[in-house]
Amino acid sequence: METSTDLLEVLDVLWDSAPDSGERVPVRKADARARLSDRGQDRAARLVDAIPARGDGTLDTQAVDDIFLAVHLELGRLSEFVHVPQAMASSLAPIVERLREETTGTIRVVDVGCGLGFDTRVLAHTRALGPDVEFVGLDFNGLLVDAAARLARAESIPVRFVHGDALDPGNAIEDPARTLMISSGVLHHIGASALPAFFARHAELSVAGFAHFDPAPGFWTRAGAWMLHSTRMREPVSRYDGAMSMRRALPASTLLPLARAGVGEAYELTCEDPSRLVPQPDRIVRPIVGRRR
Ligand SMILES: C[S@@+](CC[C@H](N)C(=O)[O-])C[C@H]1O[C@@H](n2cnc3c(N)ncnc32)[C@H](O)[C@@H]1O
Repeated sequence: METSTDLLEVLDVLWDSAPDSGERVPVRKADARARLSDRGQDRAARLVDAIPARGDGTLDTQAVDDIFLAVHLELGRLSEFVHVPQAMASSLAPIVERLREETTGTIRVVDVGCGLGFDTRVLAHTRALGPDVEFVGLDFNGLLVDAAARLARAESIPVRFVHGDALDPGNAIEDPARTLMISSGVLHHIGASALPAFFARHAELSVAGFAHFDPAPGFWTRAGAWMLHSTRMREPVSRYDGAMSMRRALPASTLLPLARAGVGEAYELTCEDPSRLVPQPDRIVRPIVGRRR
């Protein structure tokens, strides 16, 4: 039987890229469907059935692009509703303050798995962390990176978006001692088995700190997420993947040892799950924060 962390979201099976170049490669509809039905995810497989295919059996690129953009636009609304950019600013503010006291120059915040870059666009536009902080978004999905860059240009917001892997984000980092890494909704995609390597990369690069946000699993998060996805999301894939991400997300008691295995003693780590007794809507998505000692 599959555990929740083995299960897939629909978007996971609609995108593939060449391991060396990172270039997008076409996905065969039958393969995408089988990855879901093999795990007993029949409702998700039916969502793939509804996507048109070309004569060669690969999924229609335009139809897939439309789904990715629709789902990620809806994700931006969710982020706005649960105040993710504000929570990112408040988690990073003490680390930014310390960097200002100890070093000089521009501080860079790199959002790994940035999607359409809603969080960094809000942070950059509001200057929530001060005028000496710049933002870079990184994602392995070129469609989303290009769309994020277009949105930032249209809004005249100074965020740079680059194509890259969250497990090897070196191309987005120039001065590690003045770089902070953030993410939202990415840890459960990376998965428990790869998380120690993900966190180890922070220590190898020696970045100043990080704040990675992901849903805190539990009754209130599932109930709140169900309510938000049912009432505010129109795209069926958003609703399915939203519920699935709540199932795949890891509690603080699992995340902390995985992060500790990666960074060793080089960082102070904090991650607290919200109360199980009372609903705390603004903590549905909560961070694991690391400060370099
Ligand atoms: C649930 S979405 C969250 C997007 C965005 N952070 C937000 O909150 O709207 C997960 C994102 O992580 C990206 N992603 C997942 N694994 C990644 C990896 N190893 N490297 C880069 N991006 C990754 C996906 O392409 C997707 O854009």
